Amino acid sequence: MNAVALGNDARGEVAARAADFPILARPVHGRRLVYLDNGATTQKPQAVIEAEARFYQDSNANIHRGVHWLSQHSTDLYDRSREKVRAFLNAARVEEIVFTRGTTEAINLVAATWGRRNLKEGDEILLSGMEHHSNIVPWQMVAEQTGARIRVVPVTDNGELDMQAFASMLSDRTKFVGVCHVSNALGTVNPVADIIRQAHEVGAVVLVDGAQAVAHQIVDVQALGCDFYAFSGHKLYGPTGIGALYGRKEFLDAMPPWQGGGDMIHTVSFERATYAETPQKFEAGTPNIAGAIAMAEAIAYVQGIGLDVIAAHEAELVAYATSVLAEIPGLRFIGQAAERAGIVSFVMDGIHPHDLGTILDMEGVAIRAGHHCAMPLMTRFGLPGTARASFAIYNGKQDVDALAAGLRKARRLFGLEETA
Ligand code: ALA
Repeated sequence: MNAVALGNDARGEVAARAADFPILARPVHGRRLVYLDNGATTQKPQAVIEAEARFYQDSNANIHRGVHWLSQHSTDLYDRSREKVRAFLNAARVEEIVFTRGTTEAINLVAATWGRRNLKEGDEILLSGMEHHSNIVPWQMVAEQTGARIRVVPVTDNGELDMQAFASMLSDRTKFVGVCHVSNALGTVNPVADIIRQAHEVGAVVLVDGAQAVAHQIVDVQALGCDFYAFSGHKLYGPTGIGALYGRKEFLDAMPPWQGGGDMIHTVSFERATYAETPQKFEAGTPNIAGAIAMAEAIAYVQGIGLDVIAAHEAELVAYATSVLAEIPGLRFIGQAAERAGIVSFVMDGIHPHDLGTILDMEGVAIRAGHHCAMPLMTRFGLPGTARASFAIYNGKQDVDALAAGLRKARRLFGLEETA
């Protein structure tokens, strides 16, 4: 059995994994840090921290520009990182991987290039009702510029997409479908393969926001059949400020560049410029070279554990958290989809999520409280926000127990009854 799976020696295995992450050894408010805000960003293993430092120590030079050895060396490291991302997503070609600042920039790139070029008045953009603002606002901007209309696929009471409604909304007017693979606010795993298949039947292009998926399950863009897939390094145990966009080559080739500058051109005169091939066309300026290399190290880290092992570990934590938190009076889960990954979202009668977050913080327990950058979804549930615990490979059942103890303390502090 792989070292990380929760078995008889589960606590020891999780602790061994946690030892890879130096920050987990630092106390917060004099307490052991119980980090359950992995949906916002994951902590970084020593190997990733060292990969970034090593680049600056041993390999730093600008890429694609130098005839000197160090520039060729850093270019080689950067190119190899792109190949690691290709393999990670099982993209068919390395040219289909564009480095971006993260998921948000990747989606903005598609909206500003593919969207502006291809959408027009009368066209429909279909977005799921559980999208993060990063997969809503760029499309609102494009809709305003092109006259296309946004339609929203409803979410059911248990936090799943209403697939019947989705099917009925598809038509030859549907030109684009945007959907998160995993909801950052609820943890719902959407049936993206099915969504892509149905969208393609009406000729729509599909972008999947994979920010909350890639650290929690195996992703194969060819098996999914998506046209675009976006993710961020920092939710994958990698650095901030780096991520990637997968785009099918025929789409990327046909799209105009987004930002202009160095490294994205063939030739420039004051009259006109000709552009580099995909993916360079989309990477104007000096990119986050160290970040790309460290993100590739993060990919190697999760692959070393095994995404299937990580998925099983987190599924067990979600099941455990669901059973332990269900015992707490006044606690109501928001989103109980049959397929969920790594996230438990809830509210507590009589205590605002922000107060829960503050009280838990004093116990060393870090969660996220609020609208999770998914305000339309909160409105759908009639809530200002929720409290969200999101899990990673270094979390164990003792972290769930600490969360539950902190929630019971919050109830005592608010003078609410302790037992159901
Ligand atoms: N999108 C990140 C989250 O869900 C920041 O917390």
